[in-house]
Amino acid sequence: MQVVIQAVVPVATGIVQLSLKPEAKDRPITVTPGAHIDLHLPNGLVRQYSLINSRASETLEVAVNLDPQSRGGSICVHKDLRQGDRIEIGQPRNHFPLNETAAHSVFIAGGIGVTPIFAMVERLAELGRSWMLFHCTRTPDRTPFAVELRDLATRSQGAVIHVHDGVPGIRPLDVTAVVQAASADTHFYCCGPKPLMTAFESATAGLPPHRVHVEYFSNDEAQHEGTEFELICARSGLAVKIPVGHSILETLETMGLTPLCSCREGICGTCETAVLEGTPDHRDLVLTPDERASNTSMMICVSRAKSRSLTLDI
Ligand code: FES
Repeated sequence: MQVVIQAVVPVATGIVQLSLKPEAKDRPITVTPGAHIDLHLPNGLVRQYSLINSRASETLEVAVNLDPQSRGGSICVHKDLRQGDRIEIGQPRNHFPLNETAAHSVFIAGGIGVTPIFAMVERLAELGRSWMLFHCTRTPDRTPFAVELRDLATRSQGAVIHVHDGVPGIRPLDVTAVVQAASADTHFYCCGPKPLMTAFESATAGLPPHRVHVEYFSNDEAQHEGTEFELICARSGLAVKIPVGHSILETLETMGLTPLCSCREGICGTCETAVLEGTPDHRDLVLTPDERASNTSMMICVSRAKSRSLTLDI
């Protein structure tokens, strides 16, 4: 989808919000809370950013943090994108869906991880549901949407607690205490940097998986190590060895095939492929535990095989 950048607005130190209006759309685009889009950047990179929108809209809104360890994505957004520029984006996709029927929902966001959660709490406020958000940032000036979220909380059955652990005397959020204090039917959501996600995973490890929802910024665990296995592409009948150190995706690309892909690290879901035979070794951060256990699909950019052979719908 071709879009025009209608506005680039700073919303906190190091964070800008982009408003993107599709050129050829005369109807609002369907969006669900927690969805993200691919941005095809002028430097050739494709990056995923969560939408702030909670419902169908004529403009899509994303917020981008200038990552000091940027590998070219956020720095390009901040330095090269201006109002009036045209770029390409992907259709909204959602691997971090909101349970709209939960009696109570607790959200834990780290930094820019508040973006999809903003959309979620807006939706819960609209539905009259109970919610609580803990937003962890280093300092108040690095905290996007603080005023808007507090305002939303006062207008709904919600609450927002900001934890600025870069301020002297302020301790990081005790995620375990937050989880233990919630009622038994609470749904928990987390999006943020690795240390926060690790603390959240540990705190929620004993809960039923359907009440725990996560979205990752990156997949540090994704490696192409393991053993060589045979890949059979059911549609073409091709059979190929996937060597140690190379992914299925890379191997197919070296053969001239062009499977759909985006993040290449198992976090966006673009390369999800149906498994027809064999047992995948799931290394993505998209599939839920139930989806993993079903072994009906896999992310071919990172996941490998536990069986000697794998047949995919390619
Ligand atoms: S390309 Fe994003 S999960 Fe595979």
